Amino acid sequence: MNSPSTITVLGAGYVGLTTAALLAHAGYKVYAIEPNPKRLAVIKQGRSFFFEEGLDPIIKAAIDAGNFVATDSYQESVPESDVVFSSVGTPDNPDGSSNLSYVFSAAKEAASYMKNGAIYVQKSTVPVGTGRKVQALFQEMGKHFAYVSNPEFLREGTALYDTLYFDRVVAGGDDEQAVEAILAIYRQLEEHRDEIASQAGVTPNPRKGKYIATSLNSAELIKVTANAFLALKISFANSIAQLADKVDANVVEVMDAVGADERIGRAFLNAGRGYGGGCFPKDVSGLIASGLENGVDLEIMQSAQRTNSTMPGYIVEKLKKSLGELNGRKIAVLGLAFKAGTSDVRKSPGMAMVRLLHTAGATVLAHDPQAAEEACEAYDDALDIRPSISETIEAADAVIVATEWDEYRQLLPESFKAPMAGTTIVDAVNILDKNALTSAGLTYLGVGR
Ligand SMILES: NC(=O)c1ccc[n+]([C@@H]2O[C@H](COP(=O)([O-])OP(=O)(O)OC[C@H]3O[C@@H](n4cnc5c(N)ncnc54)[C@H](O)[C@@H]3O)[C@@H](O)[C@H]2O)c1
Repeated sequence: MNSPSTITVLGAGYVGLTTAALLAHAGYKVYAIEPNPKRLAVIKQGRSFFFEEGLDPIIKAAIDAGNFVATDSYQESVPESDVVFSSVGTPDNPDGSSNLSYVFSAAKEAASYMKNGAIYVQKSTVPVGTGRKVQALFQEMGKHFAYVSNPEFLREGTALYDTLYFDRVVAGGDDEQAVEAILAIYRQLEEHRDEIASQAGVTPNPRKGKYIATSLNSAELIKVTANAFLALKISFANSIAQLADKVDANVVEVMDAVGADERIGRAFLNAGRGYGGGCFPKDVSGLIASGLENGVDLEIMQSAQRTNSTMPGYIVEKLKKSLGELNGRKIAVLGLAFKAGTSDVRKSPGMAMVRLLHTAGATVLAHDPQAAEEACEAYDDALDIRPSISETIEAADAVIVATEWDEYRQLLPESFKAPMAGTTIVDAVNILDKNALTSAGLTYLGVGR
């Protein structure tokens, strides 16, 4: 098999656009296929349609150099491609299982244009067993491409860093040569990573990532298992936080000491309003559905999911107890993105709290440094979003900090106290200085602290 030189990425979303733009700087000619006309128009101008630090200059430079082409045409790009990466969306169905309609329609269309010897690579997060079904589809079409599962581990907010300085790349499939060819693409990216990082303003890391070749089904299961375990850690921290609230302990102190045990680790033991975004919620429900389909009851994940879904309500209830009543109160919500560093509001706990507050009759003013536009598009009702923190908290009875943006972390007691009408600060992400706020006469409500 010759080394690949031309790559098509199907779906230029959070994952696909980042992957495509970075590979275009690693010596490949890259096409990104995006059927959404609004997204495509923005990308063609050399920008991303979402906020991700460092991504825009990378897209622009690759387009200008002629190495990156965004298109909506399979016909234009797939026939000349040696490798086709699929990174289309895999949202959840109403029953929690994975909706694979985009995965199959993209595979079918790509297969009708792929040349002999090309490799089809699945980057989207799919339930274990999906690769076999896509292979069966190719068989039915009389096509014989190598199929590799190459799950994506990047995090929104640090997507470039994660792709360039990965912990591990996983590639799984029956065809060892094809698996090796896909791992070689990442080796080539690794060779170019420092120069790309300097162009994107990403801080380099000399650490070498791991290259892991597995079976097809293992690769698929690795991805959902990793996300499920992280979700489990968050829900575990939130369960302990609820106990800490009852017994007047501080969950941050608890987790700092528990996480100092190397066998456990401190990461993802932060209590707060729970996980959200386009991955954890659907990956957990997808794993539960996969288990059930195969006669395995993943009760532990059902429990993590239940705990997570109660967290926005738990926090709003705390506020209600403190204020006595939410109806007619003016509440400021700082943070609508599901996490800092992104404009993504999919399944955002901040948005869930806004909804609960509206339902309880509160007047809600909101702020987010990056997610205002996406939040307005996603919210079914009118959302009152203010451009600055001070305008948002002006005359508020209470403020909820719902996303761990640095600008919220750095807020001093005076920045709350002067403009607010009330004194209650709800720290739904446990990032504020409790002692400083309390000493200034504010009422601090954290999660388990
Ligand atoms: N967002 C993350 O942080 C992240 C991290 C790891 C893995 N993943 C996984 O990667 C996959 C993509 O996630 P995302 O967040 O980038 O989703 P996304 O919805 O932002 O992007 C998917 C894109 O695919 C496009 N698309 C749909 N059908 C298509 C088709 N037939 N051909 C070409 N393009 C098509 C959509 O228009 C959309 O822009 C999902 O399976 C997700 O679970 C996401």
